[in-house]
Amino acid sequence: MREWVAPGRVNIIGEHTDYNDGYVLPIAVPLVVRCGARLRADASVVLTSRQREGDTVRVGLADLADTRDRVPAWARYPLGVFAEFARRGHRVAGVDLAIDGAVPIGAGLSSSAALSCSVAIALRDLFAPTVTEYELIDIARTAENEYAGAPTGVLDQSASMLCTAGHALFLDVREFVRGRGESGFEQIPFDLAGHDLELLVIDTGQPHRLVDGGYGQRRAQCEAAAAALGKPSLREVASMAELDRIADPTARRRARHVLTENARVLEVAEKLREGADPRAIGPVLSEGHISLRDDFEVSTPALDAAVDAAIEAGAHGARMVGGGFGGSAIALVDRDRTGAVTESVRERFARSAFAPPRTFVVVPSPGAHRRD
Ligand code: GLA
Repeated sequence: MREWVAPGRVNIIGEHTDYNDGYVLPIAVPLVVRCGARLRADASVVLTSRQREGDTVRVGLADLADTRDRVPAWARYPLGVFAEFARRGHRVAGVDLAIDGAVPIGAGLSSSAALSCSVAIALRDLFAPTVTEYELIDIARTAENEYAGAPTGVLDQSASMLCTAGHALFLDVREFVRGRGESGFEQIPFDLAGHDLELLVIDTGQPHRLVDGGYGQRRAQCEAAAAALGKPSLREVASMAELDRIADPTARRRARHVLTENARVLEVAEKLREGADPRAIGPVLSEGHISLRDDFEVSTPALDAAVDAAIEAGAHGARMVGGGFGGSAIALVDRDRTGAVTESVRERFARSAFAPPRTFVVVPSPGAHRRD
C-alpha cells in the first residue's frame, strides 16, 4: 500500500476570521493522519481505521453520494472526499483506504481536516493528477461541510495542504478564494528554535466539536452583522466606527472581534516578516484570547485557566486555538520555562478540579504529502 499523510494545525492568530473573508496565520503540527491506499478489482470503497478496529465500512461507488446517513461519523470525511471527486467529474475506481490518525480528536487541532486532506491527496495521485492544491482544499472543505455536516471555513484544510516546515502560512482568504489559490497566500519564516522559544499546546481534554451548534451560530451572527451594515462580509467593513451602526449589541461584539482579530493577524505577520524576535508577538496573541473570550464568547473556563496560568508562569503570550467551546490553548514560552509553565497549568487545573491537561510542544511542520 502506498501512503499519504496530512497534518493537523494550530493557528498562531486569526480565529473566526476565515469565514468572514479575513486573514489567518496557521502552522502545521507534526501530528498527522496517514492514509494508505490501494486500487481494488471491484467497484467499491473499503475503509478501515486503526482507531476504529472492527469498524470496516464498505460502499459501492454508485452509492457514494447518498451514504451520508448510513455510515459512522468518522467515515463521512473520507467518503465525502471520494464522493466530491466523483461529483466533479473525476473518474474514480474501487480502493482500499486504511486510515491511521495521530492527531488527537476534539483537541481543536483539526483532526478532521487532516483526515479529509490525507484522503484528498491520495485520491489526487491515484485518479486526478492535474487537480490543483486549491481544488483539493475546496474538495476537502466541501466534504466536511456537506457530507460530515461541519460548517467550517477554509483555514484548516488550507493549513493542512499548504503549510511548510519552519513557516507560518499567511492567508488572505478573500484573495485566496477569488484567485482560486493563485494569490493570497505567503509562507512567512517562523523560527522558534533559533530564538530559544517553544510553542506549547495545552489540550484541555474537553472536546470541541464543529458539528454542534455554537460554531454555526457564531457564523450566522457574523453574517447578520455584515448584513446590518449592508456589506457582503465583515472584511468589507472599513473602520471600527462603522460598527456603531449595528443595533444588536451581541452582533456588534462579534463583529468587533473579527475586525480586531484581522488587525492582529496583519500585525503578527508584519513582525515575523521583518524578522523580529517572535517574543514580540506574544502580547498580540494574548489580546486575541481576551477578544475570543469577551467579544466572541467561545472560550471556556478551562481554556481561560490554561491561558492565565501560562502567562503567570512567564509565557510571552497565550491563547485558545481553533473554533473554541473546548479544545486546546497555545503558549509561547522560553525553552527553559516550558517545564515551569506546564507545571503551573497542571496545578491550576488540579485546583479547579479540571481533568489533567495533555501538553506537548509543536514546531512548524510540512503540509500534506506522499510518503516515499
Ligand atoms: C474551526 C473551523 C475553521 C475556523 C476556526 C476558527 O477550526 O474549521 O474554519 O473557522 O474554527 O478560526
